[in-house]
Amino acid sequence: MSPVLEASAANVHRAAALLREGKLVAFPTETVYGLGADADNAAAVARVFTTKGRPARHPLIVHIGKVHHLDRWASNIPRAAWLLAERFWPGPLTVVLKRARRVLGAVTGGQDTVAVRIPDHPVALALLWDFKGGVAAPSANRFGRISPTSSAHVVAELGGRVDCVLDGGPCSVGLESTILDLCANQPRILRPGTIAPAMLAELLGEMPLYAGPSAPRAPGALPAHYAPIAPLRVLAGPLIAPALGSLLAAGRTVAALSARPPVIAGCRWQTMPADPDGYGRELYARLREADAPDCDCIVVEQPPLEWQWAAIHDRLKRAAEAARRQLGPL
Ligand code: TXA
Ligand code: MG
Repeated sequence: MSPVLEASAANVHRAAALLREGKLVAFPTETVYGLGADADNAAAVARVFTTKGRPARHPLIVHIGKVHHLDRWASNIPRAAWLLAERFWPGPLTVVLKRARRVLGAVTGGQDTVAVRIPDHPVALALLWDFKGGVAAPSANRFGRISPTSSAHVVAELGGRVDCVLDGGPCSVGLESTILDLCANQPRILRPGTIAPAMLAELLGEMPLYAGPSAPRAPGALPAHYAPIAPLRVLAGPLIAPALGSLLAAGRTVAALSARPPVIAGCRWQTMPADPDGYGRELYARLREADAPDCDCIVVEQPPLEWQWAAIHDRLKRAAEAARRQLGPL
């Protein structure tokens, strides 16, 4: 089992030393836990891919500790990137920029761009300030699975394959960062997150587009990402009770996530927060609980159709898509 360390100053220092030795350190961010490696160490970065089971050409985000480190990783940085960095970093925003020439091809998935962010978590920042370099870190889960929002989730996902897990408690945001591509003619959102397009538009002077199918490779953007093992369906509120009724009558073991659970015996309920921030913070932990080995199906009540819920709809849609692939249309 990987040692799980309480994030004391001494242990953060120890974790930074492990990164310098080319070891893998899982660490908390405000979004999800990351599986970190020295972004300048090719062997360590290669181990991130094998540990996750992630295809080698899928790029990683470089985590940095200071805004002025951005030009170590990126080149031709537009003014908009500096403005966004000053406004939103540390925070759940990743920007995609032209790479600096020295950046390892393994980090960028062989592309001429690099993704960078400063996470807003005291443990992540302390680690990055001590380490001083860039930390390449995908979410600390096996490829295609739900991102971890606690150190226990990291251990459940990756077991003993990480050299150290820093425990910083549950993540406060709970959904992965917004990814904004600043390399095309117009800014494009490659992955929606809690930093919404309108917040970015204030500084960009234009509304970013949502990326279409021609967007650069972004595994988080694959249709079947973020999947629990049990099939998942998202249903509008009024359809929940009849759907559960027929699944239970057919002898299925069913879990359901809803902000207002109806009274139906025999179903495993997860009561979800009614506000988007609370819902986003809890979603992955609740899905993991629902996704017990004996669960046949997870039913999720469709959240409100308002922009504040965009990142949540995105993750639920991908989880449901994975289910359709397993089962065919339900
Ligand atoms: O909140 C987050 O972003 C978390 C925490 C740990 O920082 N990280 C995370 O990493 O979600 P990961 O690897 O699970 O997702 C990063 C996404 C992937 O979809 C990847 O393809 C995309 O960022 N990405 C990385 N570099 C890119 C690039 N140069 N161009 C386009 N997409 C890129
Ligand atoms: Mg991920």
